[in-house]
Amino acid sequence: MHLHRYEKIWLTVGVLTLIAFIITLGVNAFAMGAQPPSNTQVMDPTKVSQTPPFDQPALKQIGQNNYVANMTAFVFSYAPNRMEVPVGSTVTFNVTSKDVVHGFEIPGTNVNMMVIPGLVNSTTHTFTKPGDYLILCNEYCGTGHQLMAAHLIVK
Ligand code: CUA
Repeated sequence: MHLHRYEKIWLTVGVLTLIAFIITLGVNAFAMGAQPPSNTQVMDPTKVSQTPPFDQPALKQIGQNNYVANMTAFVFSYAPNRMEVPVGSTVTFNVTSKDVVHGFEIPGTNVNMMVIPGLVNSTTHTFTKPGDYLILCNEYCGTGHQLMAAHLIVK
């Protein structure tokens, strides 16, 4: 088969771009640990209230500036509903749903997850600016969806 010189050049460029893309993706996923904030743990969605740590949803301090927030989402709120951390704190949110699919978004940050029954989703964020951070549900979950929120006070 005869290939025109320009075809060969563009085929080479295309294949090299693909290889570069796959390498970038692989390094990000496997060496740097970039993963979607989902499926970190599976659980029985009907037994959330009996399964630790979600039987007692709470914010816990685990280090000088490190916190873990084990939270549940349900129609139409979150538990805990109000949390306080000092400025500069790094908070890992572990969230699961007790009923339907919810959202978990903190506007102005990169925190944005789906909360899916049967899965625990996790993400970590460092809060360097003081403020009243609103945690919002951004997946339509029923008639009270627009009221579903929680507060994280950083001071
Ligand atoms: Cu929960 Cu919308």
